[in-house]
Amino acid sequence: MIISFVQTKGGTGKSTLALNTAFSQTMNKKFKSIALVELDSQGTLNNWWIEREEEGRKPGKISFHHISSTQKQVFQSSIHTISAHNELIIMDIPGESTGKLHTRFACAFSDIVIIPMRTSTNDELAFAENLYPIIKTVLKVAPKKRNSFNILPAFTHPQAKIQKIVEYFEDILPNNIRCLNAAYPSRSIYENFNREGMNLKEYAQLVERNKRQALQAMRALNDIEKIAKAVNKIMEN
Ligand SMILES: Nc1ncnc2c1ncn2[C@@H]1O[C@H](COP(=O)(O)OP(=O)(O)OP(=O)(O)O)[C@@H](O)[C@H]1O
Ligand SMILES: [Mg+2]
Repeated sequence: MIISFVQTKGGTGKSTLALNTAFSQTMNKKFKSIALVELDSQGTLNNWWIEREEEGRKPGKISFHHISSTQKQVFQSSIHTISAHNELIIMDIPGESTGKLHTRFACAFSDIVIIPMRTSTNDELAFAENLYPIIKTVLKVAPKKRNSFNILPAFTHPQAKIQKIVEYFEDILPNNIRCLNAAYPSRSIYENFNREGMNLKEYAQLVERNKRQALQAMRALNDIEKIAKAVNKIMEN
């Protein structure tokens, strides 16, 4: 099973979501081995993983792989090898890349593509102009992937009603794109939990005596489980 976080627009939470989904309870209960794969030469997650190792943090069921190549053949053969050893692969795809090569690869090779997107006219236009044409091309050759592409409403207000946002997206999206029944709220904790290679759970343990921060951490952990459960539901369908 390959799940990718894809969005041609930069800075929409792909890397943060990929690492947190890999460490989510939901995915760790379901899969025996999980590979977190970064296809980004920027190496956001690679640097974070190096820090994790330096701090001696436990990887659990998760292995990390950084593919910095820009050749489709290298992606393909690397993913092939990784999938032979892992039940679940979670791919973090870069926002901007030459010829959108990484995005094309992820759309064609993933079982599930999650597209974090804001409810903003700019993001909607960018999706229509940049990402949707790639998805349409993939669906032309692989119509079975009809249920693979899912928008995840991102940077939503923490108190916004998820149902309302989902309805909004379902209304404006073409019928071959779905909206995940979850949201990824904007919270300052997502900007700082990952220092020293921490994941959300480790951060929550670190701040457990600080009521306000502990509450933020609990809420973020809860967001991630809800997202992972919604993704899980698609996998089962
Ligand atoms: N839910 C959130 N709320 C607030 N800030 C967030 C949230 N998720 C991520 N961020 C912050 O937004 C920035 C972009 O996040 P991230 O690196 O995950 O995005 P990305 O889509 O992977 O970016 P790129 O396209 O450059 O790879 C980071 O500074 C991150 O800390
Ligand atoms: Mg990223």
